[in-house]
Amino acid sequence: MKTARKYKICVVGAGHVGLVAAACFSKLGHKVVCVDNNRSKIQMLKGMSMPFHEPGLESLVKSAVKRRNLEFLFSLTEGIRSSEVIFIAVGTPPKKDGSADLSSVENVAHAAAKNLNSYKLVVSKSTVPVQTGKRIQEIIKNNKKNGLKFDVASNPEFLREGRAIYDFFYPDRIVLGVESKRAENILRGIYSSVKAPFVVTDINTAELIKHASNSFLATKISFINAVSRVCDLAGADIEKVSKAMGMDRRIGSKFLQAGIGYGGFCFPKDIEAFAYISEELGYKFGLLREVRNINQGQVIYFLRKIKKKLGSLKNKKLAVLGLSFKPGTDDMRFAPAVKIVEALSKEGARLSLYDPKSMDKSKRVLKRIKKIKFFKSPYVAASGAECLCFLTEWDEFRRLDLKRLRKIMDYPLIADGRNMLDKKKVLMAGFEYFGIGR
Ligand code: UDX
Repeated sequence: MKTARKYKICVVGAGHVGLVAAACFSKLGHKVVCVDNNRSKIQMLKGMSMPFHEPGLESLVKSAVKRRNLEFLFSLTEGIRSSEVIFIAVGTPPKKDGSADLSSVENVAHAAAKNLNSYKLVVSKSTVPVQTGKRIQEIIKNNKKNGLKFDVASNPEFLREGRAIYDFFYPDRIVLGVESKRAENILRGIYSSVKAPFVVTDINTAELIKHASNSFLATKISFINAVSRVCDLAGADIEKVSKAMGMDRRIGSKFLQAGIGYGGFCFPKDIEAFAYISEELGYKFGLLREVRNINQGQVIYFLRKIKKKLGSLKNKKLAVLGLSFKPGTDDMRFAPAVKIVEALSKEGARLSLYDPKSMDKSKRVLKRIKKIKFFKSPYVAASGAECLCFLTEWDEFRRLDLKRLRKIMDYPLIADGRNMLDKKKVLMAGFEYFGIGR
């Protein structure tokens, strides 16, 4: 994958979006510097150790650094001054009122204004509310100290954690929000060897595409979760409902998996931020509020189901398998498991926890929670338990030896929060079982 012209790119932010983009841009042949104001993160990266788990990332970073196409810097000033294109990939965390905290984005805009030593294209890759590009433009225009030209653009990133490298090189579309031909040509040039359709729009539209896409996916999940509740009440099977719905090409089969709900750093915050900005602009987006409510309700519903089966949880041992917000990542941000572990512990349960990848992060995130223990094997975690809760659908859980589990548990209950197990097999192995809507 080689592009005709090589660009000097500065990626600001070494999080999931920034670090993946930096590594992938260098793979495309560009000269990339990646900066982050978290010094220890840059220190780690200089030592070739990755700050989070993402399949394929480490080898990509190592080979790019070796080829001198990728460098990690502490100094934002140096990064900006040495580059023609600056991708902003900093965090936009939620504030208490649900709106996005744009202070990091604005800081980069100020730094770009201060260090405008040649024409620069400043591109926002972070997920931002509509009209943020305008704000970046204003900051640079009002604070620059010379007559040099600049452009602002929006190039939202759609990558999924755990499949980020693949998603970068094989995206469904590349969205370019631009206001000049020069900016469009640069961005088309940067991505010229990636085979994907370009959607070229104004900046506001590009920003909105990202919020609308994430919110729509979250809506699909909450919709199927609401249907799963009706399935439970009516004695229908959500897995079959979802399969048949998905076979209708107008609906599509993806994101129709019912369970304990979505988590991660994108959907929960993007739903809030989109609802907030819509209301700011004058439209009350009630649907999005309901999407969030249904999602939060799934965790409560799952807990209610456990209590219905076991009665009081006081001093009962429960095993929890799967802690990250989805398989393929060690990310615990807004993971439903956090709420579930907290609630079970409050009820007095003793919890044994296991996750294939996120044990270290879980230990940090859950450190204040009482009566929890981490185990290196799902079988050791399950030993003596009265309920085995599946909260993340890791593949290795599908291969567990059910007969062995049945023998080592004190009470044979499986609570399948992701509808991931073969219900017939579980029942045949002598377990009591419940999923969500089946
Ligand atoms: C998401 C978007 O998919 C991506 O385009 C965007 O750039 C960032 O946000 P990500 O957060 O990595 O990506 O995870 P994703 O694979 O989309 O899953 C999000 C959550 O939804 C997970 O908690 C997952 O378990 C849940 N989910 C997904 C369901 O509950 N049901 C489904 O059918 C699909």
